[in-house]
Amino acid sequence: MSFAPRSDFPLLAAQPSLFYLDSAATSQKPRVVLDAIRNYYETANANPHRGAYRLSGAATEEYHGARREIARFLGAADADTLIFTRGTTESMNLLATAWGKQHVHRGDRVVVTRLEHHANFVPWQQLARDVGAEFRICELTPDGHVDMDQLRLLVTANTKVVAFGHVSNALGTINDVREIVHIAHAIGAVAFCDGAQGAPHLRVGFDALDVDAYAFSGHKMLGPMGIGGVIAKRALLEATHPYQFGGDMIEFVFDGDTTWNALPHKFEAGTPNVEGAVGLAAAVRYLDGLGMDAVRAHEVALTGYALEQLAAIDGLQVYGPAGAESRSGVVSFTLGDIHPHDLSTMLDVDGVCVRAGHHCAQPLMRALHVAATVRASFYVYNTTTDVDALVASLQKAKARFYAHA
Ligand code: ALA
Repeated sequence: MSFAPRSDFPLLAAQPSLFYLDSAATSQKPRVVLDAIRNYYETANANPHRGAYRLSGAATEEYHGARREIARFLGAADADTLIFTRGTTESMNLLATAWGKQHVHRGDRVVVTRLEHHANFVPWQQLARDVGAEFRICELTPDGHVDMDQLRLLVTANTKVVAFGHVSNALGTINDVREIVHIAHAIGAVAFCDGAQGAPHLRVGFDALDVDAYAFSGHKMLGPMGIGGVIAKRALLEATHPYQFGGDMIEFVFDGDTTWNALPHKFEAGTPNVEGAVGLAAAVRYLDGLGMDAVRAHEVALTGYALEQLAAIDGLQVYGPAGAESRSGVVSFTLGDIHPHDLSTMLDVDGVCVRAGHHCAQPLMRALHVAATVRASFYVYNTTTDVDALVASLQKAKARFYAHA
């Protein structure tokens, strides 16, 4: 079940006995991404938008060319509505701070789900506190899906925004984006989607989804750290006051007031992260080469195999949806009463890299009545060999831990 060759990823190629199962935290980077960044600095580096000289023009073209490629990859025809940020966290903070402070008022309602990562929970919770709005959390069904019946009841006429994840980073649950958007729009609310775990694994199709904004992180989709963005509907961005002020985002600055530059510049104050954009563009070209349908098919097959193998370990409990089809390549579990941190440290001895903890989703962990889980997450370079190494290492850890029980 080999897919993207390990040899395309310098770190993995250099460490053949490393079993990297933490791509939901960050993905490894293919050589083409590293080459693109190096090539940018060697051939086109200057500060974009600021120079009349040709090199600055080349940097400007690299930056906006990358934006066009990433927008196309995510299914957005209007590339100028893709705002580059440091990643999903900054994107959700942008929406909650810039759009939220202008559009959410005392007595309004803000709805999130129990699945949310803190980055799509705390900004809305704090916005609601600041403006005196009501903050409501939609609970889950026993198999880890958003309870859509409850969501329909929670999204009342005074609801201004429904903020939800495309894919849960902790359980892997894939949400029905279209249906959540439909529920929000039916009463005139906006729907904002945290796509940090969606964009790397699923074909997004932003324009067809009709979602009002979709946030993503480059480093989880083979790109560099420190770059990501949010795509939003043009009318929403036009109607939103900028939240950071400085160079590039202004049109005219007078002594008493300032006018704003056109999109996307209005929301991109300061010198932009050109290397990040160029690296992420190379990453989406690589993903396009694999084909997002094939990426998803590989992930379903590998996740299905992992669920099967893990089910054979006595005392191991998997959290979240039962089948591979309704989850992304994320498997969260506990093993007996071994603390997830201890388990992850024991797996590390065998070169198996997994995340242990609350996965930045404490409200979800509390609802599951666990302090933490171990999470294995898969991507294009993982194979059944990685899963087999995980299972063998878990068996070994279990034998050692319970040897004297
Ligand atoms: N949000 C990343 C994760 O879920 C860091 O691991």
